[in-house]
Amino acid sequence: MIKKLISEKEINTRIKELSNELYTEYGNEEVVFICTLKGAVFFACELLKKYKGDARLEFLRVSSYSGDKSSGKVELNLSISEKNIKDKHVIILEDIVDTGHTLKFLKGYISDMKPKSLKIVTLLDKKERREVDIEADYSCFEIEDLFVVGYGLDYDQKYRNLPYIGVVK
Ligand code: IMP
Ligand code: MG
Repeated sequence: MIKKLISEKEINTRIKELSNELYTEYGNEEVVFICTLKGAVFFACELLKKYKGDARLEFLRVSSYSGDKSSGKVELNLSISEKNIKDKHVIILEDIVDTGHTLKFLKGYISDMKPKSLKIVTLLDKKERREVDIEADYSCFEIEDLFVVGYGLDYDQKYRNLPYIGVVK
């Protein structure tokens, strides 16, 4: 059974608010949004549909989880071409920051390509779970130490298609 934690309406309202904040920050300068597959895909679609500025979309794929346990070891499964990053404003879109290992890896990987600027935007943040010293620049919701699914997030590849965020009971 899934217990609803954040409704679709709350999520979409917050994403719209965030897209406006980002537009205020970047104005009409081009921004490359990097969606991390697969979890951030719903978040990226919703944010980009609402974003009024000049946006590009790229994808990256990393993995570190199996079931509901983080292995701590981050692997890159789909890379990105340096020419799409170098000297550009870049925003990494994450579904959730948990231990922080994934984000640390992603930040290093993209920074090495010398973007003009780099920010991290996450849908969810589980701050109390952090194992490495890293923070997102923007997060939509801070949540407690719960394993959540829906709105792109999975438990063993299941429940990504739930339109809301819930906790598996
Ligand atoms: P980190 O490297 O521990 O910060 O883990 C980040 C990744 O683990 C996220 O991008 C998710 O794919 C996955 N993850 C962490 N917590 C959850 C959760 O509560 N539900 C689903 N996936 C999660
Ligand atoms: Mg992820």
